[in-house]
Amino acid sequence: MRIVIIGGTGFIGQAVLRECLMTWGRELQAVVVTRRREGAELFPIWQQPFVWDVSESPPPPSLVDGADAVINLAGETVAQRWTQSAKQRIRDSRVLTTRNLVESFRQTARPPKVLVNASAIGYYGDRGDEELTEDSPPGEGFLAEVCQLWEEEALKAGEFGVRVVCARFGIVLGAGGGVLERMIPVFEWALGAKIGNGRQWMSWVHVADAAGLVLHAVMNEQIKGAMNVVSPNPVTNRDFTRALARAVGKPAFLATMLSVPTFILRMQLGEGASVLTASQKVLPKVAGETGYKFIYTDIEEALREVVHRRQLISLAYASTI
Ligand SMILES: NC(=O)c1ccc[n+]([C@@H]2O[C@H](COP(=O)([O-])OP(=O)(O)OC[C@H]3O[C@@H](n4cnc5c(N)ncnc54)[C@H](OP(=O)(O)O)[C@@H]3O)[C@@H](O)[C@H]2O)c1
Repeated sequence: MRIVIIGGTGFIGQAVLRECLMTWGRELQAVVVTRRREGAELFPIWQQPFVWDVSESPPPPSLVDGADAVINLAGETVAQRWTQSAKQRIRDSRVLTTRNLVESFRQTARPPKVLVNASAIGYYGDRGDEELTEDSPPGEGFLAEVCQLWEEEALKAGEFGVRVVCARFGIVLGAGGGVLERMIPVFEWALGAKIGNGRQWMSWVHVADAAGLVLHAVMNEQIKGAMNVVSPNPVTNRDFTRALARAVGKPAFLATMLSVPTFILRMQLGEGASVLTASQKVLPKVAGETGYKFIYTDIEEALREVVHRRQLISLAYASTI
């Protein structure tokens, strides 16, 4: 099983690679495409690094020729102040990377069987209490526009007989990356609070299910087009705040009484505050219809696992120094 992962060095990429190793073991040939030359020698033996900036130019066709799957998870973080140049990096690192990747498919005699390309539930914009599935139309705003362009580029791989899945990730919860790396320390200091009135919907997914769903898409030929990578139980920001305070062992009533005013977030993050304030009640229709069994469906259980794992990682780290 030959799998090429662009952005495989990242939070979701590493989880996907672990899942691939558990699924295919010795049959797995994993190529991790990274822009970073330094440190490539430290990759685990079963992950073959390939140094290339796919946002700059199409990779050599030999990289993707005959691959069983190509998984593209590259993208500049959206967790920053959205200046004009940051917005350009956010857009280009997704849209141009995908365009160049598809161009490399054009140049090969044996294009990959499937492309699982990252997208995000940002596609739906800010939608209040509306229940959103893969069939729902896109929303408005910068992220919604980027997601549409990103998906359009990925879907062009269909011209070369490649099955394309656009994995619309929700808020991915796990140790070692994503939003919780910033939120947990704040909650551990008992400084956690809901955002605005806390009524906005948060569509979350545990990283184990995010990786599980990427592999589900690789293996399941029925899946084509958009697939929401979210748990079946979105929660309001207020319920998320309560669950996170409980998971770190701090009083939940305080966190849910206090709130971070949205104007302060806008002052700090500009338009980027929309990542925290937008309401998206997204459901995993495709995952459900194709028989994916979620490991985590309960927010409290998912958050407790992440807090516990972070403690284990810091204990293991402390014992090595
Ligand atoms: N985590 C979430 O909650 C979440 C939610 C929705 C969507 N997503 C999407 O899922 C994908 C993976 O997310 P993640 O959390 O794993 O992200 P991550 O940890 O930040 O990893 C993304 C990878 O993209 C590459 N990258 C970063 N900036 C880049 C740039 N300017 N140009 C080209 N490549 C760049 C990096 O690889 P190298 O440095 O090795 O090249 C990095 O390892 C992203 O596209 C993200 O938008 C994530």
